[in-house]
Amino acid sequence: MASLMTATQAIALRQMTEADLAAVMQVEQGAYAVPWTEGIFRDCLRAHYCCLVAERTGQLIGHAVMSVAAGECHILNLCVGVGHQGRGLGRYLLRRLLALARRRDADTAFLEVRASNHCAIKLYQAEGFDEIGRRKGYYPSTDPSLEAGRSRREDAVLMARAL
Ligand SMILES: CC(C)(COP(=O)(O)OP(=O)(O)OC[C@H]1O[C@@H](n2cnc3c(N)ncnc32)[C@H](O)[C@@H]1OP(=O)(O)O)[C@@H](O)C(=O)NCCC(=O)NCCS
Repeated sequence: MASLMTATQAIALRQMTEADLAAVMQVEQGAYAVPWTEGIFRDCLRAHYCCLVAERTGQLIGHAVMSVAAGECHILNLCVGVGHQGRGLGRYLLRRLLALARRRDADTAFLEVRASNHCAIKLYQAEGFDEIGRRKGYYPSTDPSLEAGRSRREDAVLMARAL
């Protein structure tokens, strides 16, 4: 089992199981304005996607989901619990996913991120991802300041990097 030492405690990464889903959902719902449903996580487990959880002293504090096929990996979810963000865990999870993808012979990594998610985009750029395109109005908008009648959709930024 791998671990990241923080100032206080070791963080361990392991495979997600169905038994983790309640705790995963707590982290997910706290971190995203539009969270995945439990059913999506179940589908990812059934499809044998690479699903990881991060634990500190037995508490689940982050998760990540990736598919790998035909020489490509797709980062589908990368999430760190709200009280645990900004301490290196997102980067650690991402690097672990990319290492696992390389082991499965993927040569390119892809992901999609909300255009307004500057924090995640900064992380992805720092880890070698470049923007390769945009999907206009792909996500439901989470901006409460949008006036009624204006588009309530937000662009997805498509990013990729060679592995
Ligand atoms: C995006 C997310 C996964 C990053 O994980 P994290 O553990 O908070 O990030 P890290 O501590 O590993 O930081 C990695 C890099 O992210 C960027 N970053 C992190 N927090 C940031 C902040 N508050 N503002 C700006 N950039 C930030 C920085 O580039 C940082 O690198 P640096 O520390 O060298 O400056 C996490 O914030 C999260 O789960 N957010 C909610 C869910 C989400 O948006 N997921 C991504 C969907 S595509």
